[in-house]
Amino acid sequence: MLVRALYVSRSVGPQTGTVTAQILAECEAHNAAHGITGVLCQGQGLYVQVLEGERGAVNALYARIARDPRHHDVQLLSFGEIAARRYPGWSMAHVVLPDDGDAMVRLQHPEFDLYAATGAFVLQRVEELVGNGSRIGQR
Ligand SMILES: Cc1cc2nc3c(=O)[nH]c(=O)nc-3n(C[C@H](O)[C@H](O)[C@H](O)COP(=O)(O)O)c2cc1C
Repeated sequence: MLVRALYVSRSVGPQTGTVTAQILAECEAHNAAHGITGVLCQGQGLYVQVLEGERGAVNALYARIARDPRHHDVQLLSFGEIAARRYPGWSMAHVVLPDDGDAMVRLQHPEFDLYAATGAFVLQRVEELVGNGSRIGQR
C-alpha cells in the first residue's frame, strides 16, 4: 500500500552546504534501498519534505527523521494512501530557496504560514516550487 507523508520543520542551525550535503547523502544511502521517493525543500530556516513509498517504510523513515536533532517543531501536515507517486523518479529531489527571494520562492509568508496551511495547499506549493525551476538537485 502506497502512502504519501508531508511535514514541515524548523532547522536548528544554519542550513549550510555541509548540513545539506550530509542530509542528502543519508537520503541517497537509504531511500532508494527502501523504495522511498520525494522532495526536500529547504530555506529560510525551514524544511518541507514529501515522502512517498510503502506505508511501513514511510512510517519508519518519518519516525527516524522526526527524532533528528538537526531540526525541531516537526509537524505532519498530511498522511494518506495514494494511487500513484508524484515523484517516481527521485529518491529525493532537492529544492533550495534563497533567504531573500521574492514571493515566488518564499516558503514562509504571512499569507501562507506553513504551520497554519492545509496539507493540500502546501503540497501544491511544493509542486509549484519544483515546477518553476527552483529545483537545483536531483538524486
Ligand atoms: C530535514 C531532514 C530530512 C531528512 N530526510 C531523510 C530522508 O529522506 N531519508 C533518510 O534516510 N534520512 C533523512 N534524514 C536523515 C535522518 O533523520 C537520519 O539522520 C538518517 O536517516 C540516519 O539515521 P540513523 O542514524 O538512524 O541511521 C533527514 C534529516 C533531516 C533533518
